[in-house]
Amino acid sequence: MPPVPSYGMRRPFIGGNWKMNTDHASARSLAHAIDEGIADDLQADIVVFPPFPYLLTVAEVMAGSVVALGAQDLSSEANGARTGEVSAEMLRDVGASWVIVGHSERRHKVGESESLIADKLSMALGSGLRAVLCVGETREERDAGKAHDIIAAQLRSALASVDAAAMVDVVIAYEPVWAIGTGITAQPSDAGEAHREIRSALAGRYDARLASSVRVVYGGSLVPAAAKAIFSVDGVDGGLVGGASLKAPDFLALCSAATVGVAAS
Ligand code: PGA
Repeated sequence: MPPVPSYGMRRPFIGGNWKMNTDHASARSLAHAIDEGIADDLQADIVVFPPFPYLLTVAEVMAGSVVALGAQDLSSEANGARTGEVSAEMLRDVGASWVIVGHSERRHKVGESESLIADKLSMALGSGLRAVLCVGETREERDAGKAHDIIAAQLRSALASVDAAAMVDVVIAYEPVWAIGTGITAQPSDAGEAHREIRSALAGRYDARLASSVRVVYGGSLVPAAAKAIFSVDGVDGGLVGGASLKAPDFLALCSAATVGVAAS
């Protein structure tokens, strides 16, 4: 029998996915404002995901900060002839400790397959990076009543070769595609239902104890005004934030709301 991994309480997680936004100067000032504004004793994992070219700058601005650094993507290969790709080792080398895998913009706009996403996740975890694995259904899939099947299939595929011990380094982000960048935040009841579905898929793949210990966060038009309702849903452990993470006051408000909301749930 493999050793049983030990899991603690679920610590809130907030990620700021800057996507293909900012320039060198604004990345620097956004990082600075977040670093200045974050409470040093905030009981949460706060991670920013700047574009590749600004990782090093943000790492320098945030040296010694409680805010961790993440990348938005990585190569499924370790090194070598992969023009344009960025390896897990390179990310670690510039100070990143997290990476996003399976974001819907990469699934649907870039065309990443389930098997590529699984390979990227394995590469990330095998290289010592922690990963935010995004899953979520499109509007058509939801309207066709297939949302839960889609989420379960995405998890099954991505986690097929991830063993239980590695799951301490995985955060799952439920990101309904129709909510991303649209200004339409999911209803708390819909988010709650999807989070339950995710935990039940994790219980099926692993076991109930692991399922209740993995952090599952919500993403999709998350703004401070919607935070209280979403974060107080049972089983929602924080958020992955796009647009609102580009405004330091909004991002900071979401960071504090996550600790309050999650602690209260
Ligand atoms: P959004 O993006 O907050 O701008 O909707 C969320 C995400 O894509 O992670």
